[in-house]
Amino acid sequence: METQPLTPAPKKIILDCDPGHDDAVALLLAHGNPDIELLAVTTVVGNQTLEKVTRNALSVATIAGITGVPFAAGCDRPLVRTIETAPSIHGETGMDGPDQPESTIVLDPRHAVDLIIETVMAHEPGTVTLVPTAGLTNIAMAVRKEPRIVERVKEVVLMGGGYHVGNWSAVAEFNIIIDPEAAHIVFNEKWPVVMVGLDLTHQALATPEIVDRIAAIGTKPAKFVIELMEFFTKTYKDAQGFEYPPVHDPCAVAYVIDATVMTTRKVPVDIELQGKLTLGMTVADFRTPAPDDCHTSVAVDLDHKKFWDLVTDAIVRIGEPDAGAPATMAAGLTAAGGAK
Ligand code: BDR
Ligand code: CA
Repeated sequence: METQPLTPAPKKIILDCDPGHDDAVALLLAHGNPDIELLAVTTVVGNQTLEKVTRNALSVATIAGITGVPFAAGCDRPLVRTIETAPSIHGETGMDGPDQPESTIVLDPRHAVDLIIETVMAHEPGTVTLVPTAGLTNIAMAVRKEPRIVERVKEVVLMGGGYHVGNWSAVAEFNIIIDPEAAHIVFNEKWPVVMVGLDLTHQALATPEIVDRIAAIGTKPAKFVIELMEFFTKTYKDAQGFEYPPVHDPCAVAYVIDATVMTTRKVPVDIELQGKLTLGMTVADFRTPAPDDCHTSVAVDLDHKKFWDLVTDAIVRIGEPDAGAPATMAAGLTAAGGAK
């Protein structure tokens, strides 16, 4: 008789990001949570230039002591539009606030799009989840280059969009509006897409109680998060009138860890590409019933306590890695931080 494993296998993810204060927290959560196996981290232009966000990703990896995970830089511009970054929220470096260590970690020599494709194709079908927390340029390019990834990927759990709210226009969210054509490709492929949008992430506020809990951990990674949150609190107040900042990107990772951290609803979602006022809107059709072939769903309500428990637990588990220790992310290496 076959015996069942006592604990389920960790969920394999590829994190495609643009650190970014909240991307940094997403990376820490993915690394520190035992139910996640981080297969690769890829970067894409977004909150800042590709060069800057890639440097930031490597800094976070150094601070968190991430080893043995390939990091690769991807697209340095959107598919069609000109680059739009977010210094009003993330500062000139893309991760202003804490001092960043110069990372000794070296980038994987592959383009992020190739790393995504190769990683998905190298694993059993239905086992790899893509977690984009940035513009969808790399993911769209990967689909166009190797369409077979669509049937192999388990699901795409992305931070982006919002069915009732925008932040970069009245109706559009940053990650979608910076490359709406890429988002259109990703939402229209027939893989399962979970849109963890602003409707949900605006509930993930880093309140003073949360900040105090993280500060009490007392490690360097915890201090790093606190300094990120201090900067994020200020810019979110100044630029968007929030009392406490919404920490968007780790919500997508949290969903992969434990889907009960939020409620979701199956609903068709498409991306507006024509509208003068509505470019990049994630148009969700809430008329019921959802069609049988509906492959998109949206996140609705967050369990705030469960979410922050996951984040603080991950930071506790990361502990106090030796930030000075040289780490090699992959074999066959290029200079760290450089855009390709
Ligand atoms: C999203 O935009 C970026 O600025 C954040 O990192 C997050 O991914 C929120 O709209
Ligand atoms: Ca992001």
